This record gives sequence, structure tokens and C-alpha cells, in this order.
Amino acid sequence: MPESAISSSRPRVLSGMRPTGKLHLGNYMGALANWVKLQDQYECYFFIADWHALTTDYADTSQIVPNTKDVLLDYLAAGLDPEKSVLFLQSRVTIHAELHLLFSMITPIGWLERVPSYKEQQENLTGKDLSNLGFLGYPLMQAADILIYQANYVPVGQDQVAHVELTREVARRFNNFYKLDGREVLPEPQVLLTPSPKLPGTDGRKMSKSYGNTILMTDPEPVVRQKLKTMVTDPARVRRTDAGDPDKCPVGDLHKVFSTAETMANVYEGCRTAGIGCIQCKSWAADALVQILQPIQERRASFSETQVKEILEDGSSRARARAEQTMQEVRAAMQINLTNEAGR
Ligand code: TRP
Ligand code: SF4
Repeated sequence: MPESAISSSRPRVLSGMRPTGKLHLGNYMGALANWVKLQDQYECYFFIADWHALTTDYADTSQIVPNTKDVLLDYLAAGLDPEKSVLFLQSRVTIHAELHLLFSMITPIGWLERVPSYKEQQENLTGKDLSNLGFLGYPLMQAADILIYQANYVPVGQDQVAHVELTREVARRFNNFYKLDGREVLPEPQVLLTPSPKLPGTDGRKMSKSYGNTILMTDPEPVVRQKLKTMVTDPARVRRTDAGDPDKCPVGDLHKVFSTAETMANVYEGCRTAGIGCIQCKSWAADALVQILQPIQERRASFSETQVKEILEDGSSRARARAEQTMQEVRAAMQINLTNEAGR
């Protein structure tokens, strides 16, 4: 990657995902496809938040490494390009933890207790004891992830907006307390809300790993076709002779996202007149999915295990260099390090 990607004057973008397993079409449409586009316009940092996975999965850590590899492969498969973007692993840039610690000195506990996902997750993940400091600190670690790159934009979904809002509050508080030669060190990042089409899973609810209704980016053609076969349809179409409405059908929603205008027209016509059956309609939807997935899966297969490691190692050292730049300013602004200029 050209050095200019780090020192360029393009606005900076940062985002990441926890390594919770192979990514699905909802992750692709809702995040990755958008990140891929951002690469040409912004100085991009995309990472895998493996420490964040520990906040809930601390008792069994055996899946973090395999999941990390899968998520990086899914990033690459989607078209994130290590020549254009810095792709890195959170735990390989350990100064995130330094900034998290410094932030913990200035952040009121009430701010963290008030983040909506805190109570929600504690109530939802009933099988786990989430009364840990690490879990409470989840959004603060996220603030450190973002602010250590002095990122201007954070492309995320609606569910992460409260975390970016907290990040802005932490930056503001930091800037109020500490300045460097009268200047503020940490810019307040903005959410780049990902425009995401409604993507239903096989049961008609939003596609989500926790519902077990996903189509994976890695699903081979027969699996995609099988999953489509079991997908729920417009409940009004009980018999083949009943007319249906694609606007009330999850398969119709898939068509809207992935099919051509021509297929879409055939779906509307055929469904509303009972001219086609759901089996036919679903096979067209499967065709469209298979077509989207094919180049993604080919790209995935072109990366070796060694390359995955190299890409993460190389990206992480680039990220480290950029993060260290911010930390020099942070330490100097806080007046906590006499030998700061020398770095570490
Ligand atoms: N909390 C995010 C999620 O669950 C992952 C994440 C961690 C993140 N640090 C981040 C996202 C920084 C954006 C920026 O999806
Ligand atoms: Fe849904 Fe297609 Fe069946 Fe209509 S024909 S109900 S859009 S699956």
C-alpha cells in the first residue's frame, strides 16, 4: 500500500465488527458493500474487534481466532482491499488499551450505564454473567477504537449510533480538560448511517445470526437453494391457485434487493395472478443470490491462510503507526509523559 494512504488528507473513516463467526448477507448489504465503496473516497481503517468479543465470550475464547480469520476472509471476499484500506486486528494494536484506560479516568460510570445496549444485552444474554467491568466499558473501548485514529466518520448501522454518540461525548470531555498548545486533539466523529435495504432472513424476520435465519456469504449454491425453499412466503398464498403479494412476502423483499427489474416485473405479475408458483419464484430469487455470491466466493478462495496472517500483520503495523501519532498528542495534552516525544 502506498504510504500516502496513511498520511493523506482525505477524511478518515473507521469501522469494525466483532469476530462472532462467518458473515451473512445482512452483514454484506448492511455494512461491507458500503465499506467497499468508501475505500476510494476516504482514508479507511477497517478492523476486527477481538477484544470486544471478549466482553461477552470471556469464558470460552476458543472461537475467537478461527472467527477472526473467517471475518477477515469475508472482508476480503466482499472487496475490502489491503492496498486501499488499513485492515487490522484490534488486539495487535495494543495502544487502544492505553487510550481506553486514560478515558476510563474521565468517564462517569453513569454515562456507560445509560447506554441502551448495556441493559438490553444484560437482559437478553441471560446465560452469561455480564456484570463485568469489561462489559460495562464496551462502548468506551469503542470510543478509544475510533478516537485513536482521529476518525471523522464511522459507518455503522442504527444499533451503533448510541455508541458513536458516547464517543462524541468522551471526545468533548477530553478536549475540555486537555489541550495541546491551545488546540483540541480529538475530533468528534460523525455517524455515516449505512443505507441498508430491508433484508429478511429465511423466517421473514430481519436477517440476524441470533435468529438462525441467515444466508452466509460462504453458503454454496445447493445450500442457498435449500434455504430459499424453506423460506416463508406471503401467508395469503396457501394454495398454488391463491394469488399473493410480493410486497407482503419476504421472498419478494429479497427480489427487490437482488433481482433485475425484468425478474421483478415477472414476480409481481406472476404472484398477483397466481401465474407462477412460489417454488418457481424462489428459484429465481436463488438465481439472483447465487449470482451475487459467486464473485465473492471466488475472491475468498483466492486468499491463503498465510496471506490472511500477513494482511492482518501488515495492516496492524500501519494502524499502530497512525494510532501512535494520536497517542503522542494525547499524552502531551494530558501532560503525563516526560519522554513523550521519543514515543515507545
Ligand atoms: N460495537 C461494534 C459492533 O458490535 C463493533 C465495534 C467495536 C466498532 N469498535 C468499533 C464499530 C468502532 C465501529 C467503530 O458492531
Ligand atoms: Fe412470495 Fe414469490 Fe410466492 Fe409471491 S410467488 S408469495 S412473492 S414467494
